[in-house]
Amino acid sequence: MKKKKTIILGIETSCDETAVSVLEHENNKRPKILSNIVSSQFDIHEKFGGVVPELAARSHLEKIDLITNEALKKSKININKIDAIAATAGPGLIVCLSVGLNFAKALSVSLRKPLIAVNHLEGHALSPKLNSELKFPYLLFLISGGHTQFLSVDGLGKYKRLGTTIDDALGEAYDKVSKIMNFTYPGGPIIEQLSKKGNKDRFKLPKPIFYKGGSNMSFAGLKTAVLRLKNSLKTNKDKCDLAASFQKTIIEILIKKTKNAIDEHIENYPSNRSLVVAGGVASNKEIRKNLKKLCNQENFEIFFPNIEICTDNAAMIALVGLEKYKKKKFDSLDFEVKPRWPLDRKAKFLKGAGVKL
Ligand code: KG4
Ligand code: ZN
Repeated sequence: MKKKKTIILGIETSCDETAVSVLEHENNKRPKILSNIVSSQFDIHEKFGGVVPELAARSHLEKIDLITNEALKKSKININKIDAIAATAGPGLIVCLSVGLNFAKALSVSLRKPLIAVNHLEGHALSPKLNSELKFPYLLFLISGGHTQFLSVDGLGKYKRLGTTIDDALGEAYDKVSKIMNFTYPGGPIIEQLSKKGNKDRFKLPKPIFYKGGSNMSFAGLKTAVLRLKNSLKTNKDKCDLAASFQKTIIEILIKKTKNAIDEHIENYPSNRSLVVAGGVASNKEIRKNLKKLCNQENFEIFFPNIEICTDNAAMIALVGLEKYKKKKFDSLDFEVKPRWPLDRKAKFLKGAGVKL
């Protein structure tokens, strides 16, 4: 029998990246990224210090055709050879999600190929499968601009949340600290670079709920503390010292909370010792280094996506599409975008004042 290759087109427009990827899969082989085009809108949102939904949606609309053509051209795949179209349907900005999902629906109709609606967070969750042999179950530490959670992952669509941030997401904390110091968006890469030149022991910053709340986390107090120091930042050296102190504090929190999450995970999966760290913040080298060290001590194997797959992209969306395609999990054309779409639907909402841990 002739070996059949599966080709999935992935589309991602949940926030400020217009991204399209073509993924190829041959039986028993690791999926191969034939193209992975990401067009960021940093220049559009930079002056606002954050993403403006309407501007983002308009830019997706202007570019989606072009980026899709570019991805197809780079992959050297004829559009008729595509087996399914996978698009992010949530969570994210409703006006942005709608652009990608509607475009995917139109392609699905015209090509007569199945539509697969993908949870963006599941894209991050599975992303290391593109570069390593990763098997279920595993502990996932998802650290992005909108989410910061520990989850036990038992299979496609099977998530149990162990801990979450009760206020800001980790990437959001980096972005806000960068904004306070008058740097541009996104702040993560900037703070990481500044911190290399700073004295990490200069400023003492708080570590909210460090000794309680299991693997739940809180970062809002750090941002407030940085805001209070704003007026004392006179020189570039001051800013580097603050960035380094901020990152050091973050790492101390992450190590402590990851250790707690490991203990919670192995209670449910005593023989599993795998940790996946994914999402935009997972591209931070210092965070990677420290989590690797912890995993060495804990006898855990650690998995990261390749750096270019940490921040938002469509290859990870195509990958979830492929996994769902194998199980024939297709969606109908009336599937609606889900601005809120938690991986663990049973998990309690733990945000805002008065949260009981
Ligand atoms: O996963 P992602 O691209 O988008 C979401 O799904 O949210 O993550 C974007 C976030 C931003 O907040 C950005 O500042 C942060 O990831 N980020 C970083 C680094 N690179 C991106 N944070 C810390 N260090 C980095 N090197
Ligand atoms: Zn993301």
